[in-house]
Amino acid sequence: MFRTIALLVCLTLSAALAMAQDRAPQAPVSAATSECLMCHESLHPGIVEAWKKSRHAAVTPAEAFSLAGSKRRISAESVPEKYADTAVGCAECHTTRAEKHADSFPHSGYSVHVAVSPDDCAQCHAKEREQYTRNIMAEAWGNLAENPLFMQMVRAINDVPVYDGGLLSSRAASTSTDEETCFSCHGTKLRMTGIETRDTIMGEMEFPLIEGWPNSGVGRVNLDGSKGSCTACHARHQFSMEMARKPETCMVCHSGPDVPAYKVYKASRHGNLHSALGKDWNYSAIPWTAGQDFGAPTCAVCHVSRVAGGDGVVVAERTHAMSDRLPWRIFGVPYATAHPKSADTSIIRNADGQPLPATLDNRPATEFLVDKAEQNKRLAAMQSVCLPCHDASWVDGYFARLETTIEETNAATLAATRIMQRIWAEGLADDGNPFDEYIERVWARSWLFYATTTRFASAMAGGGDYAVFENGRYQLMETVRKLDDWHRARSAKADVNTATKTPTTAP
Ligand code: HEC
Ligand code: HEC
Ligand code: HEC
Ligand code: HEC
Ligand code: HEC
Ligand code: HEC
Ligand code: HEC
Ligand code: HEC
Repeated sequence: MFRTIALLVCLTLSAALAMAQDRAPQAPVSAATSECLMCHESLHPGIVEAWKKSRHAAVTPAEAFSLAGSKRRISAESVPEKYADTAVGCAECHTTRAEKHADSFPHSGYSVHVAVSPDDCAQCHAKEREQYTRNIMAEAWGNLAENPLFMQMVRAINDVPVYDGGLLSSRAASTSTDEETCFSCHGTKLRMTGIETRDTIMGEMEFPLIEGWPNSGVGRVNLDGSKGSCTACHARHQFSMEMARKPETCMVCHSGPDVPAYKVYKASRHGNLHSALGKDWNYSAIPWTAGQDFGAPTCAVCHVSRVAGGDGVVVAERTHAMSDRLPWRIFGVPYATAHPKSADTSIIRNADGQPLPATLDNRPATEFLVDKAEQNKRLAAMQSVCLPCHDASWVDGYFARLETTIEETNAATLAATRIMQRIWAEGLADDGNPFDEYIERVWARSWLFYATTTRFASAMAGGGDYAVFENGRYQLMETVRKLDDWHRARSAKADVNTATKTPTTAP
């Protein structure tokens, strides 16, 4: 059945090819890709039209290589010979390295895989891929799934409450719940579970069954063993530079009260300039020149982009390892610390043996964190981005305030944590899962939402509403007070209870 259809379809191959080449600019497509297009043009016009708008459809790797200096986009030393002279089409991505992919399945005479991985992209974008392995994002699945403490947080949030016989308990949530919550952003671990035969409009065909799919989380564990998902910021199939450079792309995952970078940015002066004037900026230019192409930084400018300053001189090199410009980890669990050395944070053990970058009384796990010299290097890299638009004293003043904010919010978290530790020590909350009881939630909110938001406002807006009333210092202080109040009320009651209890035999 499949073969007959494939044959029929092949008859119109040259006609379709001619049509495809009508559109300019369009590079020649390989024989394999033209076969894919035959069916997929009508099956998935959304996919095919997006691809036609991409540079992958317009520029061959050989042409891309021929560009010199800062105009050159492609980073690999060389690309496989067979891909040099045709467009980067369906077959070039979906049939490449077939033997490495557990999800490869026979399809129209080719071995096709659906989950195109960072290692597939690496054939032409080796540098981006290598840098991305050093980005904490690439490890985002394991940073949750392989950290027993963080998995307790997953359970405390996702599990289904059960109220029975006057007792509140919970039962484990399904895997699909975990996949559409925490792991939708952090990434799932893909696993092949079998092959299914599906009736398609082109007859019966076989497709792989993949657990954990669909998903485009930043740390997805792929079926060729690689980690990460380039689609998280370069949505298929246009893979547009403009999209990666706009803040809304990061908004998808950086919006919650725990990770409010986008909200903070939107309410900042830079965000204001972007929303008021950004429609006239040039988001595709290479190199990307401050002042000329954009008037204020987006997320990409500060964290990723190759930025040019006066006379087109590059002031910051592009990096897909965002840690290159991050001296601190201001997302505190529970304290802000120097940035971790390894993107895999599940390996960290503090002096009390916990998988956290500092102990609960804020002694940092220094052997797992970068030292002062490295922090200064990273700070200088971040600051070099500001200097085409700001004076050095403006920039120094800004970062001095951030350091103070880190110190003061950590002090507030220490106060909150000391109260929480007394609550545990006095048995007023059980010492099992530290995130599931009401008062533990109040404690977690103090650092997860408020201390973090306060630091984000300092780092990415120079203060403002998010530094005070919008999940900022106001709520932080209020939560510390609430913890103290709750503790006093309960321990007073506990004292009364003890006093009226008949003493039992001493231990
Ligand atoms: C004879 C027609 C035909 C040809 C040729 C063809 N495909 Fe498909 N393809 C299909 C159909 C039909 C589906 C199923 C669509 C659906 O169920 O929505 C499909 C599905 C897919 C999927 C999704 C698989 C999944 O697990 O859901 C991918 C990826 C794919 N094709 C890639 C390709 C590539 C790459 C080529 C060229 C090497 C190609 N196809 C050639 C008909 C074809
Ligand atoms: C530059 C590489 C690249 C090219 C070129 C490319 N794809 Fe994809 N494609 C991807 C990536 C990445 C994904 C996301 C899969 C995942 O990792 O979950 C994807 C996903 C898909 C899917 C499944 C996604 C869904 O939403 O159902 C189909 C079907 C597909 N591609 C078909 C095609 C077809 C047809 C073409 C040619 C017009 C094509 N692709 C060209 C990289 C590519
Ligand atoms: C076979 C080689 C090849 C593969 C595989 C490949 N690319 Fe590309 N990519 C190119 C070429 C060639 C260009 C165009 C460069 C130019 O315009 O000079 C490009 C351009 C890009 C751009 C810039 C688009 C723009 O608007 O400027 C992005 C982003 C990109 N690729 C991402 C990816 C991702 C993500 C993958 C994997 C899913 C991938 N590429 C796979 C060759 C490849
Ligand atoms: C909307 C996307 C999104 C969802 C959903 C999400 N996270 Fe995250 N998570 C992030 C981002 C973004 C960061 C990084 C924050 C930063 O660096 O500022 C992060 C970081 C973390 C970290 C720190 C990991 C480390 O290596 O230090 C933990 C722990 C965490 N998240 C727990 C969770 C839990 C538990 C859930 C589900 C209950 C969850 N996250 C759901 C986006 C998300
Ligand atoms: C699909 C979800 C997703 C998207 C989209 C996304 N991120 Fe993230 N990002 C995450 C997660 C999850 C983490 C935290 C991983 C961890 O801690 O293990 C993270 C971490 C980070 C970090 C901290 C890195 C570090 O080393 O401490 C920065 C900075 C960041 N993201 C910036 C961005 C920018 C800029 C964009 C847009 C261009 C973006 N992110 C898009 C999910 C996402
Ligand atoms: C967290 C978001 C994010 C993820 C994930 C991401 N990128 Fe990027 N990428 C960007 C941003 C932002 C830019 C723009 C950089 C600039 O302005 O210099 C970019 C630019 C690029 C370019 C440059 C294109 C050109 O025309 O110069 C390539 C190629 C690329 N990325 C490939 C990849 C590959 C391959 C992966 C997966 C290993 C990946 N990216 C993952 C955000 C991301
Ligand atoms: C003006 C420059 C600038 C802009 C614009 C900017 N950031 Fe930041 N970002 C910073 C600085 C400075 C820090 C703090 C440095 C550090 O954590 O070491 C930071 C920290 C972060 C962190 C926490 C990293 C960690 O390890 O805890 C995340 C996540 C982040 N930014 C994401 C974003 C996103 C998403 C956007 C856009 C919505 C954005 N940033 C816009 C400068 C910027
Ligand atoms: C492309 C140019 C550009 C870059 C790069 C840039 N800024 Fe700005 N920034 C501006 C402009 C323009 C304003 C608005 C000045 C005004 O309000 O008159 C601004 C405003 C600010 C403000 C004022 C906020 C307020 O509420 O008044 C701070 C603080 C700031 N920038 C810090 C930084 C830091 C730190 C960096 C680097 C991490 C940076 N900027 C990078 C252009 C830039």
